[in-house]
Amino acid sequence: MLNLVHPADDIDTALTAHLDNENDTLELGAILATALTPGLKIWLNGNLGSGKTTLTRGMLRELGHTEKVKSPTYTLIEPYVVSRLNLYHFDFYRLNSPEEYLDAGLDEYFSGQGVCIVEWPEQAVPYLAAPDLVVLLEPEGDGRRATLRGHTEAGRTCIEQIAKHPITPPPRRGR
Ligand SMILES: Nc1ncnc2c1ncn2[C@@H]1O[C@H](COP(=O)(O)OP(=O)(O)O)[C@@H](O)[C@H]1O
Ligand SMILES: [Mg+2]
Repeated sequence: MLNLVHPADDIDTALTAHLDNENDTLELGAILATALTPGLKIWLNGNLGSGKTTLTRGMLRELGHTEKVKSPTYTLIEPYVVSRLNLYHFDFYRLNSPEEYLDAGLDEYFSGQGVCIVEWPEQAVPYLAAPDLVVLLEPEGDGRRATLRGHTEAGRTCIEQIAKHPITPPPRRGR
């Protein structure tokens, strides 16, 4: 089961979770989906195969998307309309240069009310808008470690919402 933990050094803005298997990644995505607000920009950092698309799939399923979630590796963007939200899923792995992001007009998506989820954001820096929330996925044992950090008020509010989730009691400390 998913267990979210506040690291002691940064109790307001960061959460970590060990994700034992793909289902845990989907579950974290589902929890994240309940805390999305219009215009939220989320960067998904982590190597190839770290679970970024899986996390996005978990979000989309929770929001009611029943069809396949395709990786936008070649299309750069895959748009969805789900539960009264526009959700834009980006993957910039194949950008040849950050300028290509501007040339394709992708910056327009980042100024509206749609939720933007970005894989390989570093490929579009310095043009990409700053994130509200950054999720880092790293290998841990046979699974993954997820670290979520809020960078704006909206991102921190999102983290607070996730931390309240009933199935994720933080472990007791100092006893
Ligand atoms: N927590 C996890 N533990 C082990 N394997 C996982 C976990 N989350 C996802 N995976 C698996 O990792 C593989 C790559 O996932 P994917 O989401 O496509 O990665 P990315 O988009 O970061 O390249 C998939 O086979 C997926 O099932
Ligand atoms: Mg991917």
